[in-house]
Amino acid sequence: MIRINEHYTKLKASYLFSDIAKRVSAFQEAHPEKDVIKLGIGDVTRALPTACVEAFHKAVDDMATEAGFHGYGPEQGYAFLRDAIAENDFKSRGADISPDEIFVSDGAKCDTGNIQEIFSGDATIAIPDPVYPVYLDTNVMAGRTGANNDGRYEGVVYLDCREENGFIPALPEKPVDLIYLCFPNNPTGTTITKEQLKAWVDYAKENRAIILYDAAYEAFVTDESLPRSIYEVEGAKEVAIEFRSFSKTAGFTGTRCAFTVVPKELKAWDADGNAHSVHALWNRRHCTKFNGVSYPVQKAAAAVYSEEGKAQVKGLVDYYLNNAAIIRKEMAALGYELVGGDNSPYIWINGKCDSWEFFDLLLTKAGVVCTPGAGFGSCGNGFIRISAFNSLENVEKAMARIREALN
Ligand code: MLT
Repeated sequence: MIRINEHYTKLKASYLFSDIAKRVSAFQEAHPEKDVIKLGIGDVTRALPTACVEAFHKAVDDMATEAGFHGYGPEQGYAFLRDAIAENDFKSRGADISPDEIFVSDGAKCDTGNIQEIFSGDATIAIPDPVYPVYLDTNVMAGRTGANNDGRYEGVVYLDCREENGFIPALPEKPVDLIYLCFPNNPTGTTITKEQLKAWVDYAKENRAIILYDAAYEAFVTDESLPRSIYEVEGAKEVAIEFRSFSKTAGFTGTRCAFTVVPKELKAWDADGNAHSVHALWNRRHCTKFNGVSYPVQKAAAAVYSEEGKAQVKGLVDYYLNNAAIIRKEMAALGYELVGGDNSPYIWINGKCDSWEFFDLLLTKAGVVCTPGAGFGSCGNGFIRISAFNSLENVEKAMARIREALN
């Protein structure tokens, strides 16, 4: 009799964003006359930058010729893209990352979910609360946690992010092995300073831990004093893996391209205390389970680094940041305390009531979809997250409806 992986039975029945999508569909079926504006899942709505579209078209045309055809590419990504990433995203900001430390993939969701499998099954994990659910759920699937009691899994070191600590978690009180951090943060939209990040890097060094740093929203950092990469902090190459994505930066949620940086210095140990290269482990995994991102998509992604591409990406980011500023202003005027939205596309709002109740209220009274904070962890209860990823027109319409519903 084939048995299931019983760790899956510890998970909530469905993934947060699928759960929300189901509730919204049910509402729309029951009220087909209502127009619903989605400010829930962080899915971009604007067209791809023209520079990316042109490169994409050209690469498809290449594929139609014998001379320009590409079959399997290097699993880690084409040199033209890895070189452009290393130069523009890291070297130009003083972070010494070389192209062969970059692994191109089809998404930061997959990479942040898959990375845990190269580490020991009994590694202790530290996970912020609230958190992007992928980090936690994939560790539950892998059996690194016990049962879920009252919304928290046994065996996980939760890093509480609350108003009292400015949503920046304190260092764990006991040693941990893997630490998940995400800045600009999903879901709270908060950012971290270089000094605060340095404390985590030092902690990881002292404890021989590894930081899994999700920087998928770095393009939204406009405050130049803030780090956009953990490698801007000295010594981080010895202790951190960084995840990046073109999804939110350049509108690639439907096109799929991202990358993970695994520095060559990074070590993890076996049971006998021998050090192993984490880069070699991830490379082994990547080559075994992944055949690379398609050539046209990598060409489209590389165009992000052309002069036109940079200007167009900045235009996209500024557009969503303007939406975020409107959401902040409107919700603050209604008397809500909030964070995020200035260096981030997400605004985290204290609704002062049950998150799902607030979610239902906005959906039924205003026809606006948000994400209930409780879906990101127990510290998220009482909060909702509003995403700035929609058109300016829809954001203005949504805010007018919310004003009317809540006033
Ligand atoms: C979110 O809304 O948190 C993100 O869009 C989810 C994701 O990127 O997978």
